[in-house]
Amino acid sequence: MKQVQLNTGSMIPIIGLGTWKSMPGELYSAIRWAIKLGYKHFDCAAIYGNEKEAGQALADAIKEGDVKREELFVTSKLWNDAHAAQDVAPALENTLRDLQLDYLDLYLIHWPVAQRKGTGIPENSDDILNIPEEVTWAEMEKLYLLGKTKSIGVSNFSIKKLQQLIQKADIIPAVNQIESHPFLQQKKMIDFCKQNNIAITAYSPLGSGGDSNRSVLDNQIIKEIAWRVKATPAQVVLAWQVLRGVIVIPKSIHEERLRENLSALNIELDATDIEKINGLDENYRFIDGKDFLYGSEDLWDED
Ligand SMILES: NC(=O)c1ccc[n+]([C@@H]2O[C@H](COP(=O)([O-])OP(=O)(O)OC[C@H]3O[C@@H](n4cnc5c(N)ncnc54)[C@H](OP(=O)(O)O)[C@@H]3O)[C@@H](O)[C@H]2O)c1
Repeated sequence: MKQVQLNTGSMIPIIGLGTWKSMPGELYSAIRWAIKLGYKHFDCAAIYGNEKEAGQALADAIKEGDVKREELFVTSKLWNDAHAAQDVAPALENTLRDLQLDYLDLYLIHWPVAQRKGTGIPENSDDILNIPEEVTWAEMEKLYLLGKTKSIGVSNFSIKKLQQLIQKADIIPAVNQIESHPFLQQKKMIDFCKQNNIAITAYSPLGSGGDSNRSVLDNQIIKEIAWRVKATPAQVVLAWQVLRGVIVIPKSIHEERLRENLSALNIELDATDIEKINGLDENYRFIDGKDFLYGSEDLWDED
């Protein structure tokens, strides 16, 4: 499996399995199949509500000898309601307990938005707190130094928010996990992160199932390239990210698709294919936090 070296020295497998929207009863088997197929990297989060099921699958896979803990790369994310200094370490402890792990490989601040404790999606301005990101980050740094997580990073941070954080941080984030696919290529962010030795993980790399306006996997240009290189549209868009060094975490609960997505590593695209995909960028988000994180109008800082 191709890997990317993080600024901590840790190696992250370039393809991982996403776990958002995997329903109870679906995730266990998906993780067990994925490990048997060769996946080592799993992207979890407390807010997905399924870390216990993920943890059971990981624990059983280790117990039955399918994989060793040290071969796995497990990511989780701090939810917005635990940004206060005293809430960060307990949130990680809950996640570790649910995942049945002693340490994480990567812990991310899920969104640059702080909410009142106990809130999932904020309902009104009362749910939003004013906690500077550097306060939360200082606690993340402590968890890293304690060895509770091998790397720390952020998610959904704009370039401006990353710059502000880096100025005040002792430890540079290892990763910024952001939405990226052919309709949202994030070239400026990728350049900025390269310059600052921050790896990029693309979430929703397949376009998250599409919406009423658009579908990445139904795009005519993607389909034509897929036909020509004898691959599927999913494999084409994953291969395109891997070729530009971006880590991807496609989610599936189906064994065939897990296999298909992992095999994207074997797909070759030529310069013409890549140019055609590069031409599809339209800065289009399927998951726009501004739509559901109350009061976060400046989330993307016009990136
Ligand atoms: N940091 C963040 O704020 C954030 C936000 C969103 C997502 N994420 C992470 O990123 C992961 C991936 O993003 P995502 O779940 O939004 O979207 P995605 O991985 O782009 O797409 C998932 C959708 O595509 C389907 N699919 C998977 N493989 C396929 C294939 N080969 N052919 C056709 N359809 C396929 C899946 O259905 P089936 O499962 O039925 O196969 C599912 O409906 C998440 O699971 C989560 O771990 C992070």
